[in-house]
Amino acid sequence: MVQTQKLMEKSKAGIRPARVISKVGIIGAGQMGSGIAHVVALSGYNVAINDLKKEAFDKGLEAVSKNLARQIAKGSIQESERDQALERISYAPNLEAFGDCDLVIEAATEDEALKHKIFAALCPHLKPTAMLASNTSSISITRLAATTDRPEDFIGMHFMNPVPLMELVELIRGIATEDETFSTAKAFVESLGKKTAVAEDFPAFIVNRILLPMINEAVYTLYEGVGTVEAIDKAMRLGAHHPMGPLELADFIGLDTCLSVMQVLYEGLSDSKYRPCPLLVKYVEAGWLGRKTKRGFYDYRGEKPVPTR
Ligand SMILES: NC(=O)c1ccc[n+]([C@@H]2O[C@H](COP(=O)([O-])OP(=O)(O)OC[C@H]3O[C@@H](n4cnc5c(N)ncnc54)[C@H](O)[C@@H]3O)[C@@H](O)[C@H]2O)c1
Repeated sequence: MVQTQKLMEKSKAGIRPARVISKVGIIGAGQMGSGIAHVVALSGYNVAINDLKKEAFDKGLEAVSKNLARQIAKGSIQESERDQALERISYAPNLEAFGDCDLVIEAATEDEALKHKIFAALCPHLKPTAMLASNTSSISITRLAATTDRPEDFIGMHFMNPVPLMELVELIRGIATEDETFSTAKAFVESLGKKTAVAEDFPAFIVNRILLPMINEAVYTLYEGVGTVEAIDKAMRLGAHHPMGPLELADFIGLDTCLSVMQVLYEGLSDSKYRPCPLLVKYVEAGWLGRKTKRGFYDYRGEKPVPTR
């Protein structure tokens, strides 16, 4: 499907075979991994997903199924397209199962040490032409790439949440990323119907460099008693025309992910303006991670969300 001229030339020169993306592996079946699987399968690619437990895959597939049903109800896809997309998604019980993938997208928890471990375990099972991408929100692509056996075939492919609805994918080159890796990634992302924006490899790239400090500031606003959860969200929805309030958005992203991104910004840029709000730390320590654990700045266990402060 996606084939670049330069790789074909390399192939003719006997350097390596042409890179054609037809099977995509995804590591992590959480909200991002399942969202990516949704759009990739709907675009005609075969998808294999690995997670720590089969239950995580089952939960992810259920989310894909529900979101596809929503698209049918809106008239944006046919039932047959939903059925074909679901048939293309399979469970990868281990990393060996990625041996026939042309591209593997890592979408596991935002933790650099964990991602290093995943890439180290994954690389021995990949075919030589396989490309690697990380969906990290903030971590250095150069550092992640350096833990693999193919830094030139590694790229940051930062999908936005929720993946089926958001138009943008940020593309981030590491220091070693080759031109054809970039052009293959760009063609692949465009084949999913998404637009790309190119960001340099600096902590949190473009979108989260701007968005997460705003969310962190909203948590400080709550921490300092400037406003209640509801007042802060209402103020930003009605006063700045944001579609969601910043605390509601933090719950949607996941408070653990928000905290990790702020830590990467704070440490990576050595600037106190990025200091994570202690209240955000407290919520994460409590295991109140937002929608995914049913409690964050709002409690989602009842019929409608209720502020937790
Ligand atoms: N949440 C967002 O809004 C958002 C947006 C863009 C990018 N991201 C990035 O996407 C990645 C995933 O975020 P998410 O929101 O989907 O998190 P999530 O918590 O919903 O899902 C993470 C998944 O990774 C799995 N996992 C953890 N360790 C693993 C391992 N060793 N092998 C396989 N699977 C493993 C977990 O079991 C979980 O299912 C992170 O890097 C995050 O920064 C998140």
